[in-house]
Amino acid sequence: MPTTRDLSTKAGVEPITMLTAYDAPTAAVVDAAGVDVILVGDSMGNAVLGYDSTLPVTFEEVKSRTAAVARAAEESLVVADMPFLSVGVSEAESVRNAGAMLKEAGADAVKLESGPHTVELTEKLVRLGIPVMAHLGLTPQQVKRTGYARQGTTRDEAREILDLARAHEEAGAFSLVLEHVPANLAAQVTEAIGAPTIGIGAGPDCDGQVLVITDVLGLSDYAPPFAEQFGDVRSEMRAAVETYRDAVEAGEFPTAEHSHVEEELDELY
Ligand code: KIV
Repeated sequence: MPTTRDLSTKAGVEPITMLTAYDAPTAAVVDAAGVDVILVGDSMGNAVLGYDSTLPVTFEEVKSRTAAVARAAEESLVVADMPFLSVGVSEAESVRNAGAMLKEAGADAVKLESGPHTVELTEKLVRLGIPVMAHLGLTPQQVKRTGYARQGTTRDEAREILDLARAHEEAGAFSLVLEHVPANLAAQVTEAIGAPTIGIGAGPDCDGQVLVITDVLGLSDYAPPFAEQFGDVRSEMRAAVETYRDAVEAGEFPTAEHSHVEEELDELY
């Protein structure tokens, strides 16, 4: 069983790899490819659920998809993202929801979009045995306040991110996602804390990197400028679907090979 400790051991020795996945077949591919961490991100809102932000994503949506991913993953660490308002409303509800991701959905850890308000909660969850990955910089659940702009671009903002990174490490977070921040800030945070940093749009000096799977596969309608498309699955899907449509329309599918005949059912009328 993968543990968060395995990740700390890898940090600084080899880059840590993390990708999102939201269903069992994709998780099986990501796991078999040897990616260290599968994040069941609330990015599923934009990536696969057809929402235009992560705000509408529900606790039940993430929990059910985390369960699917956890059933498929054998080696990768599975991290469930806590969606908007599933933590933070009250401590009791936050603990119950984060706990359910481990207890009922089979996640190995949870990720919280972090800020000053998540330091105490992180400490509480970690004490209870719920490993926490923190997330600073651009936190898309704050979209109504910050938009999707790069964060930590002034000295004050950068210092705040550095201080919060330290505070979350002290609270027991086993890792920290840094999203859409200047590369030189991410490098200094990585230097300053012992917990592995995982960057997305945060330059090359983090302990690891994460991207959204649909961006990597070339399946997204829109990808942020810091993402990279490593495949063209949309074209592959389109070609397969069109080939299927053509075969049905031409009467070429199904063939005898795809069909079953029971002799005694001949001449029913
Ligand atoms: O929801 C998500 O997929 C994320 C990553 C982009 C870090 O938070």
